[in-house]
Amino acid sequence: MFFNDAQLCAQRWQSCASCHDADGRMDALNWDLLNDGVGNPKNTKSLLWTHQTAPVMALGVRASAEVAVRAGIHHILFTQQPEDVPAAIDAYLKSLAYLLCL
Ligand code: HEC
Repeated sequence: MFFNDAQLCAQRWQSCASCHDADGRMDALNWDLLNDGVGNPKNTKSLLWTHQTAPVMALGVRASAEVAVRAGIHHILFTQQPEDVPAAIDAYLKSLAYLLCL
């Protein structure tokens, strides 16, 4: 629910799913995020197994997915949330499974 909830955003129009799609994948767009400075746009990454592939982000600027989830709330949604919110997002992302398309 939190992953898809634009109420977490300061202006209430964007959620994690705005770019990572409803199932934690990617929108195939380049975004210039404040995570690692401006002027260096990067393609949205799938979040499948991100908690198993530390460090995360294209340049490894976040030590783990847990750190990136909390940084995303701060630098992309521009709010602070109680710890149960990023903890629930972590649990959701860890539950994602790959889809086998034959
Ligand atoms: C405006 C689009 C956008 C929104 C909204 C967004 N992300 Fe991202 N996310 C990206 C992009 C682009 C990257 C890749 C950036 C990079 O590689 O430096 C990324 C990367 C990540 C990564 C690292 C993946 C990896 O394995 O390297 C995590 C974790 C992540 N996002 C979580 C979140 C969470 C949680 C939210 C909501 C709080 C969120 N994102 C909202 C665009 C977005």
